[in-house]
Amino acid sequence: MKEKYIIKTYGCQMNEHDSEILRYSLEELGYQETDNYEDAKIIIFNTCAIRENAENKVYGNLGWLKGNEKYDDKIICVCGCMMQSNEIRKYILDKYINVKIVFGTNNLDNFKDILKRHLITGERIIEISDKNKYTNTTFNAIRPYEFKSFVNITYGCNNFCTYCIVPYTRGRESSRDLEDIVNEVEALVNDGVKEITLLGQNVNSYGKTLEPKRSFTELLIELNKIRNLKRIRFMTPHPRDIKNDFLELYGKLDKLMPQLHLPLQSGSDKILKDMNRHYSTEKYLDIVRKAREINPDISISTDIIVGYPTETEEDFKKTLDMVHEVRYDSAFTFIFSPRPHTPAAKLEMLDEDVVKNRFNRLTELMNEIQYENQLKTIGKSYEVLVESFDKEVGTAEGRNPQGRLVVFDGNPLQVGRIVEVEIEKINTFTSFGRLV
Ligand code: SAH
Ligand code: SF4
Ligand code: F3S
Repeated sequence: MKEKYIIKTYGCQMNEHDSEILRYSLEELGYQETDNYEDAKIIIFNTCAIRENAENKVYGNLGWLKGNEKYDDKIICVCGCMMQSNEIRKYILDKYINVKIVFGTNNLDNFKDILKRHLITGERIIEISDKNKYTNTTFNAIRPYEFKSFVNITYGCNNFCTYCIVPYTRGRESSRDLEDIVNEVEALVNDGVKEITLLGQNVNSYGKTLEPKRSFTELLIELNKIRNLKRIRFMTPHPRDIKNDFLELYGKLDKLMPQLHLPLQSGSDKILKDMNRHYSTEKYLDIVRKAREINPDISISTDIIVGYPTETEEDFKKTLDMVHEVRYDSAFTFIFSPRPHTPAAKLEMLDEDVVKNRFNRLTELMNEIQYENQLKTIGKSYEVLVESFDKEVGTAEGRNPQGRLVVFDGNPLQVGRIVEVEIEKINTFTSFGRLV
């Protein structure tokens, strides 16, 4: 019987994609995935450092494993963004003696060697390299879905938003060669992939560091030409770097899905400045207006941070005003979390109750607007790429071009296919419809 592994992933899509790459390495070595800690020989925690609660989940899991002798002979590995911090790494290595392997976000390529070395010597292995060195590497990955895939286009980030740890964990921004990306997507499509999601911390600055210079617009145009590729999505654009030629693609490229996830962070120009975001609310609204002019059906979603240390009630109200104005289709809202070494962590935190109250008001408004937007989709038909079928209830679910979750009475043969569904009912987060 094959030995088993389990990977727990705590972070963003880039983190998820890194886990898919690790899966490939493990299966090449003959291991099989399980979702049960007890069955696993190898336990991997792929960590995230973006907010304190992401870190606490990792400590929680390491803690209960340590206290339980059933797990004494497991090979516990910790990787991901938390491991890029010297202090956190040291803390974990000191406190959790059960951790056998530690490696960083730039050590995925030699994970197989690291593991083999541990198996031979039984020694604790620590491998961390600072530099982003994967711009010329095309990784194999085990995807959870056959028909959709993540594709990295840039690594790292140069923006240094004052609250954010990513530039410290993922290093400086670098772009992959355009030809390598196109080749990777072509290979994926030959393998049955219909939808790709391009990944980068700031996809609109793609290609700036390449020789000759390339642009995100150029990349999208090239990818749109790939026969049998059906859908292109991406995460995350930065409002500062969005130009008109990019927005115009929403009217030109048939495969570019009408979806724009545009992090706002705050609706106050003062706070945006404090955060080092380099755009104004006016510029932001201008992008939204143009995008909707080009495609009125585009869905717009966002990320917002509540309780940045310099945020006043007035500033917060401006965030609510922006939400009213943009009428987002969905949003990720976060409470500010001070991250070590970032400039914002040196500022005095706001009162917790004040922040919670703001957070709740924002969530309430967001849900209301989201619901109203969803109501307007009733009676409309959308192409849905079917992701799964639940045989117990007989329903299938998938995503429409705007990225909304659509549930309908379907069959297992539809998984991986694009079908047309008319929306009949909705709630805040899901649409329900029937095949047409
Ligand atoms: N590169 C992307 C997003 C990276 S992190 C971008 O710039 O949009 C995803 C989101 O986490 C951010 O958009 C931000 O809203 C949130 N975030 C980042 N650091 C945070 C912190 N210290 N506290 C709370 N939320 C944070
Ligand atoms: Fe963090 Fe800002 Fe870079 Fe996004 S753009 S990863 S928020 S520093
Ligand atoms: Fe977290 Fe690292 Fe992503 S800090 S959000 S896993 S880049």
